[in-house]
Amino acid sequence: MYSPTRRSLLAGATGLALCGAAAPSRPATRPSVAPNGAPSGPGLQSHAARRGLFFGAAIDNGLLETDAAYMSHVPTECGVVVSEAAFKWADIHPTADGFSFDRADKLMAYAKRHELRVRGHALVWHEANPAWLEQTITPANAEGLLTRHIATVAGHFSGRLMHWDVANEVVYPEDNLPLGLRNTLWLRALGPRYLDIAFHAAAAADPGALRVLNEYGTDYAIPSDERKRAALLGVVADLKSRNVPIQAVGLQAHLDASQIALDQSVLAKFVGDIAAMGLKVIVTELDVRDNGLPADTQSRDEAVAAHAKAWLDPVLANGAVLGVLTWGLSDRRSWLNEKFQRPDKLPQRPLPLDSELRRKKLWASIGEALDAAPMRGTPL
Ligand code: XIL
Repeated sequence: MYSPTRRSLLAGATGLALCGAAAPSRPATRPSVAPNGAPSGPGLQSHAARRGLFFGAAIDNGLLETDAAYMSHVPTECGVVVSEAAFKWADIHPTADGFSFDRADKLMAYAKRHELRVRGHALVWHEANPAWLEQTITPANAEGLLTRHIATVAGHFSGRLMHWDVANEVVYPEDNLPLGLRNTLWLRALGPRYLDIAFHAAAAADPGALRVLNEYGTDYAIPSDERKRAALLGVVADLKSRNVPIQAVGLQAHLDASQIALDQSVLAKFVGDIAAMGLKVIVTELDVRDNGLPADTQSRDEAVAAHAKAWLDPVLANGAVLGVLTWGLSDRRSWLNEKFQRPDKLPQRPLPLDSELRRKKLWASIGEALDAAPMRGTPL
């Protein structure tokens, strides 16, 4: 099992000292919004560590290689990083016989220098697959392709990753297939057992990395999300019934600030249902899109911050939740501007730091949600 770094232990110890025996009734330091872009005061990882949780963010390799100002905030705010693209098939396995670890290894080296932990994302997905895979996969060769990829990639990082998103976005009830599984190249070639193959291969290649099924679209009290939650719970139960070595569910949490159907009791029940199956939960890709909100910056920031806290509070209340990552750290770069462009073309404001790297209201509301979480045991 992954052992915490000196840095994460220190962060935890500092937090415990702050709200520990010397002043038992003292509340945790209230997060403050820094007046300028310089990293100042404890970051979100410190707030998380005080509760035995972690905080982290997805890092784009372009930023890692070119934006020193952006990257200077990462060790302050994060205890964990994940790559936006470098561990996906298209990047890491670009030709049938060629693996390319350069970009992923750059993130690993950065993380090592700053004593950050790293999540792997993702071993199986229906997107970001290289053309050669789409063109050559058949029912006869698929199991070999999948096991070789996982043995090589998870083997390359073995012992150095905190988690692996073994399977990403595998549920899509709208495809009307058994168990609500998504119609993907892997399902077409192998049937539902592709999940068994992937989790067993990941366990064999890197037994210490927590094995995660990562999913989006489980956030709201709307029919499509209801169906997704039910199907996801069914898929997990099915895997568990065959002793497939899944250990956690990742909730991507790509939230929408204009969605009013946020029901905290539904979220609490959903997380409780996952935990009742003996699984951990990780908030893997939190961001809050504002493309349904008017342009005014202040009201957008307030709505985004309040929305994230309303979602995080019931989720973090469950002790099975290990930590939170946002999908990017600063509004300087977010995939949401490509995927859900605002009608007025203004950049979205979905992340904890603004494009000038200043802490936003969302930074403070995530800090408050972490502070309010019940204390966990030893951080994983
Ligand atoms: C996104 C990246 O952020 C983009 O840069 C890329 O072009 C597409 O993928 N859910 C996931 C992530 O699991 O891998 C996606 O990342 C965002 C949605």
